[in-house]
Amino acid sequence: MTIRLGGIIFGLVLVGILVLWSLVPDTLKYTPATKAAYYAFHEEKLEPEGGFSFAGLGGKWDYQQLQRGYQVYKEVCSSCHSMKFVAFRNLAELGYTEAEVRAEAASWEVPGLNEYGEVTPRPAEPTDYFPSPYPIEVAARAAINNALPPDLSLITKARPDGSKYVYSLMQGYVEPTEEDLAKAKELAGGVEWETPVGLYFNEHFYNGNIAMPPQLYPDLITYADGTEATQEQMAQDIAAFLTWTAEPSLVERKQTGWFVIGFLLFATGLGFLSYKQIWATKKKKKA
Ligand code: HEC
Repeated sequence: MTIRLGGIIFGLVLVGILVLWSLVPDTLKYTPATKAAYYAFHEEKLEPEGGFSFAGLGGKWDYQQLQRGYQVYKEVCSSCHSMKFVAFRNLAELGYTEAEVRAEAASWEVPGLNEYGEVTPRPAEPTDYFPSPYPIEVAARAAINNALPPDLSLITKARPDGSKYVYSLMQGYVEPTEEDLAKAKELAGGVEWETPVGLYFNEHFYNGNIAMPPQLYPDLITYADGTEATQEQMAQDIAAFLTWTAEPSLVERKQTGWFVIGFLLFATGLGFLSYKQIWATKKKKKA
C-alpha cells in the first residue's frame, strides 16, 4: 500500500514539475539568470502588443502579415541581406498562387550563364533561391564600412529570442539616455561612450553601435494590402516573416505536440483499463 501511495505521489510531483516547466515560462531554469556585464543598454526585448500570432501553444501564422513581411524584405532588406536558404517556390506556403509565385520569382534577377559561358543576370525561376545582393563577401564589406550583412534566412534562430530581437533591433535606433551613458562609461572603466563615424547607436544591438543604418521609416513602403506602414508595423511584419523563413514548420510542430499529448492521454487511459481488466479476477476483494 505504502509503495503504491509513494509511487502515485512521486508520479504527481514529476508531472507537476513537467507542467510547470513547459507551461509557465522561467519558473524552472537549469542555470541562474546571469547578466552579461558588457551589456550596457537594453537587453529586455520589445514585443508587439498582444504578442506575435505564432507565439504560445496555440500559435498560428498570420499569412497576411507574412506577405507584408516578405514585401519589407524585398523592398528594404534585400539590397544588403541575402536569404540563401529560401527558394521562391517556398512563397507558395504564404498563400500565393502558382502564377503569383512565378511572377514574383521573375521580378528578381539571379546569376545565369549566357551562350558564351559568361555570367549574366537572368530572371529567377520558382526553383531558384533568393540571390545575394553582392557577388562575394569582399564586395559586401567594401560597400558598408567593412561590416558584413548576415544572411537573414536563419537569423531568428541565430539570436536568442530571435523574433523579438529582430522586432526590437528595427526600432532600437534611439538616442541613448543619460542613465545608459553613465552605465556604459562605468563598464568601460571611465571612458565616455561614443558612436564612431559610420556606425549607428542601437539600444538593442549587443554592443550598442551597429554598422547597419536605421532602416524603417514611417511610410517607407506602400503595403499591397493597404495596411498603414508605421515603423512598428513593418518591424512586426519583418520579424514574423523571418521567423517563418527560419522555421516554416513552427505552427505544424506545435499542433503535432497537441496530438502527441492527446495520444499519450488516450494510451494512459487504455493502459489503466487493461490493468483493471487483467487484475479483475486475480485480486481478492477486501472483506
Ligand atoms: C544598407 C544595407 C542594409 C540594409 C538595407 C539592411 N541591413 Fe541589416 N545589416 C547590415 C549590416 C552591414 C549588418 C551588420 C551589422 C554589424 O555587424 O554591425 C546588418 C545586420 C543585421 C542583423 C543582425 C544583427 C546582429 O545581431 O548581428 C539583422 C537582424 C538585420 N541586419 C536585419 C535587417 C532587416 C530586417 C532589414 C530590412 C528591414 C535590414 N537588415 C536591412 C546592413 C543592412
